[in-house]
Amino acid sequence: MTETKKKLAVLLSGRGSNMAAILQHTRDGELAGLAEVALVVSNCPDAKGLETAAAAGVPTAVVPTRRPRAAFERELIAAIEPYSPDLIVLAGFMRLLSPVFVGHYRHRILNIHPADTRSHQGLDGYGWAFAQGLSETLITVHRVDEGLDTGPIVGQARVDLRGAASLAEVEQRGLRVEHQFYSAMIRRALLAED
Ligand code: GRF
Repeated sequence: MTETKKKLAVLLSGRGSNMAAILQHTRDGELAGLAEVALVVSNCPDAKGLETAAAAGVPTAVVPTRRPRAAFERELIAAIEPYSPDLIVLAGFMRLLSPVFVGHYRHRILNIHPADTRSHQGLDGYGWAFAQGLSETLITVHRVDEGLDTGPIVGQARVDLRGAASLAEVEQRGLRVEHQFYSAMIRRALLAED
C-alpha cells in the first residue's frame, strides 16, 4: 500500500490493554496497512500503558492533570498537534473532556465503554453489570461529545455474562471482546472519513 497511513493518538490513564491491542492490530490485524499509533498520551505519569507503548517504540507524552481543565486541555492539544492525528482514541482515559478539546477535534474522537451507554455512563461499567447480575453487556464504541458517554454510537458488541462467577470473570470476558472490537470500530470510523 503506497498511501500514507492514518494516524492515531491514543489517550489513556492506566493499564493500557486496549492501547496494546490496537497497536497489535495496526501491525497484523484489523488496522494493518491502514493506521498507525503515532502517539500515546497519558494524564498519569505512572500509567502502565505508557511503559508498554515506549517499549514498543511508540512516542509517548505525559500531560499531568493538576491544573484548571481548560489549561490542561490546551496543553494536551499542544502535545498532540505535532503528530497531526486523523483520530483521537480514548482507551481508559479517565478525564471528562470539555468543549476546548472536543471542539478542537470535533467528530474525530472515539471512546470505548464497557456497557450500553444508553443504560450506564461513567465509571465501573463491569462492576455495574456484575452487581445487577446482567446476562450480557453491550460494549459500546461511540464518538465523544462534551457529555459523559453521551456521543453518537459507532457500534456495539454483545458479551455473554451468563454464569460469570466473579467481577474478574466479567471483566476478562469483556476485555477479550473490547480488544478485538475497538480496532474494528476504529477501522469503520477511519473508512467513513474518506
Ligand atoms: C476498559 O474497560 C474500557 O472499556 C474503559 O476503561 C477500561 C480501560 O482498560 N473505558 P485498559 O486501560 O485499556 O486496559
